[in-house]
Amino acid sequence: MVNLRNRDFLSLKDFKKEELETLLELGLEMKRGLDHKEYLSKKTLGLLFSVPSTRTRISFQVAARQLGAHAEYFSNTSLQLANKESIRDTASVMSRYLDAIIVRWYDMRDYGMGRRTLEKLAEYADCPVINALDDKDHPCQVLADLMTLKEVYGESYKEKKIVFTWGYAERKKSPGVTHSLLTAAAQLGMNLRIAHPKGFELDEEYTSFASQAVKSSGGTIEYCHDLEEALEGADVVYAKTWGSLTLPVEEENRLKLDIRDEWCVTKERFKLANEGAYFMNCLPIIRGDEATADVIDSKQSLIYEESENRLHIQKAILTSLL
Ligand code: CP
Repeated sequence: MVNLRNRDFLSLKDFKKEELETLLELGLEMKRGLDHKEYLSKKTLGLLFSVPSTRTRISFQVAARQLGAHAEYFSNTSLQLANKESIRDTASVMSRYLDAIIVRWYDMRDYGMGRRTLEKLAEYADCPVINALDDKDHPCQVLADLMTLKEVYGESYKEKKIVFTWGYAERKKSPGVTHSLLTAAAQLGMNLRIAHPKGFELDEEYTSFASQAVKSSGGTIEYCHDLEEALEGADVVYAKTWGSLTLPVEEENRLKLDIRDEWCVTKERFKLANEGAYFMNCLPIIRGDEATADVIDSKQSLIYEESENRLHIQKAILTSLL
């Protein structure tokens, strides 16, 4: 019996395989219509975001509404945090009013600060704190992605070769999706190949966790530094940028421009994957960065399914925690 009541939801590392499986199944049930009940009637949720969002913000607000709850959005600059009120006082006070706090917080110029902030919020809030993307994880996105794969392939999604590749973006983005997918794939026994240029290695906290977890789950985790080599035999190609955790900013920016073209999933490169392969990206994406428009907008692209499934999986997360 899986019981997630009152837990914080910061990283998929904190959840067991059976708990992840239960959430995925509940997300699918929500999509099939279980959501017709107002499970969270009279609950009030707060969204506290320090960086912009389209999907996460709207899908949590709509999920709350459809479950009978109310969700209020706060940017950090609109609260007394902007006048240096502490995270401790903010968390303590918010949790006197709210039944859950959904937080997006990071600044890639200071890797780790986002997670420390979420942990502090969780320490002082008496209600669940849900990670809506920090500098280490994006657990809600990755559960939506796995739910999408489960819809497409059924239980055999675990046998498919998922290639997750780094791509160019001007902005230095969080490696949260990559870390959360690595974590989940290792726990669930999936076959994941991560491709990235040298200099864009993942946090050792996550690679170590995954190499341990995969031993008991029966999956495979591979790393590769050549996009074309990585694409061979892929059933799914997920292209996503993330910022370097080690390179100085100027060096990272120079390198990114140098390698931009060789790390873009073009139509020609996509043909190296298996016939009928799917393309994934969590959005936002700029066409021509991680992939070209003819791949992103092709019939094989699952980008809008992934976005829609944010709504359903977050209903599963909210009802389980609350
Ligand atoms: N994928 C995702 O988290 O999108 P937003 O940044 O728009 O919320």
